[in-house]
Amino acid sequence: MTRTDTSAADGAKEAAGRAAAALVEPGMRVGLGTGSTVHWTIVALGERTAELGLTCVATSQRTHDLATGLGLRVVTPDEAGHLDITIDGADEVDGAANLTKGGGGAHTREKIVAAMADRFVVVVDSTKLVGRLGPFGTPLEVLDFAPAVVAHAVEALGAGRVEVSEQRSDNGNVLLRAYFGPIEEPAALAASLAAVAGIVEHGIFLGTTVDDVFVADVAGVRRLAGGRPR
Ligand code: 5RP
Repeated sequence: MTRTDTSAADGAKEAAGRAAAALVEPGMRVGLGTGSTVHWTIVALGERTAELGLTCVATSQRTHDLATGLGLRVVTPDEAGHLDITIDGADEVDGAANLTKGGGGAHTREKIVAAMADRFVVVVDSTKLVGRLGPFGTPLEVLDFAPAVVAHAVEALGAGRVEVSEQRSDNGNVLLRAYFGPIEEPAALAASLAAVAGIVEHGIFLGTTVDDVFVADVAGVRRLAGGRPR
């Protein structure tokens, strides 16, 4: 497939996504994230399907359909058991490689698939870089039992506003987005959100789980170190 830029941001997404695909080696087991940036990673892997012979795990139905349409072999997480590398996008990346994810409502599956991998690689255009997580809002996947009760509990943790998405996750759950303002301590907020009954998963991914971040803009692609201790 040829480059099909419609804007600088689209071109940067493609550049970052394709750059990370170069890390994938023949025979690897690969976690495939969700979104318009990792889309290009999947396209790049699809262009080398026969050569690479990969076994992939998809984080969403959308990614599953893209990958299988390109001829990639996709299995369930349980079938794969363990992954060599997972590549995914993000909505925000701070200076310590903490991430906001879940703009596509897939962060629960994305967090599982990231944790299955020896190496977690993030691909973004430079507009995703932030001083502090927060402006995008923190996506929350919530059981469809008492979403308003959960939203109140999240407000009690400091969210000034909690929005309900009209979309559901691939798991059939409710999607919320909570606005905390600049998040000074992502690890502390992540722990507090994880303790709220009814939240299936929150969209804060700690930098200590990230190995590399590929950031692209008009000047090209940079590879930043993640926050995972080496
Ligand atoms: C989906 C995600 C995506 O990775 C995130 O929204 C980034 O998407 P895009 O690359 O389209 O900007 O977390 O749940």
